[in-house]
Amino acid sequence: MELLIRPGDITRTPADAVVNAANSTLLGGGGVDGAIHRRGGPEILAECRRLRETELPGGLPAGRAVATTAGRLPARWVIHTVGPVYARTIDKSGTLASCYRESLRLAAELGARSVAFPAISAGIYGWPMDDAARIAVESSRAMAELVREVVEQVLFVPYGPAAEEAFRAALEA
Ligand code: APR
Repeated sequence: MELLIRPGDITRTPADAVVNAANSTLLGGGGVDGAIHRRGGPEILAECRRLRETELPGGLPAGRAVATTAGRLPARWVIHTVGPVYARTIDKSGTLASCYRESLRLAAELGARSVAFPAISAGIYGWPMDDAARIAVESSRAMAELVREVVEQVLFVPYGPAAEEAFRAALEA
């Protein structure tokens, strides 16, 4: 399983599965969430609504992942995961690592050969970018053994130079 960097707009990043930095409602928001729903179109939200009405009446807990259609995106699935909101006094690293772990586990179950990740929690949820990138790379690497039969490529999609620098440093570590 290769870990690669593909800087840019994740809604234009071809991959079998594109991961959305969602919130627990699954009903859309700003940042990546807003971009994915805007470009992916209404089918994605329709499936999210159906999930809320059936399996996930209370919403998607932080650290968990669920898949829907990718709508008009250059992908087959969107994997929605909810990152933890950063808090200086509480270490939620485990929950952030779980976002990558559960998304990769689900991607393998779906049969996705490539998975594109944004920097989960590193935007509106306030996680320091360097640490977010470190957790992204370490938790993805830790899943390689488990998903290597299916997932061949993990694409990190940093948005902007600082994020790109953080992911390059994390990959070299
Ligand atoms: N492509 C790639 N990365 C992007 C894009 C994009 N189109 N838009 C934003 N980003 C980057 C941000 O710059 C940040 O580095 O994705 C990272 C995650 O930022 P957010 O989207 O704000 O996600 P997060 O910090 O996890 O906050 C989630 O924000 O959008 C709402 O509904 C969402 O409430 C949830 C919260």
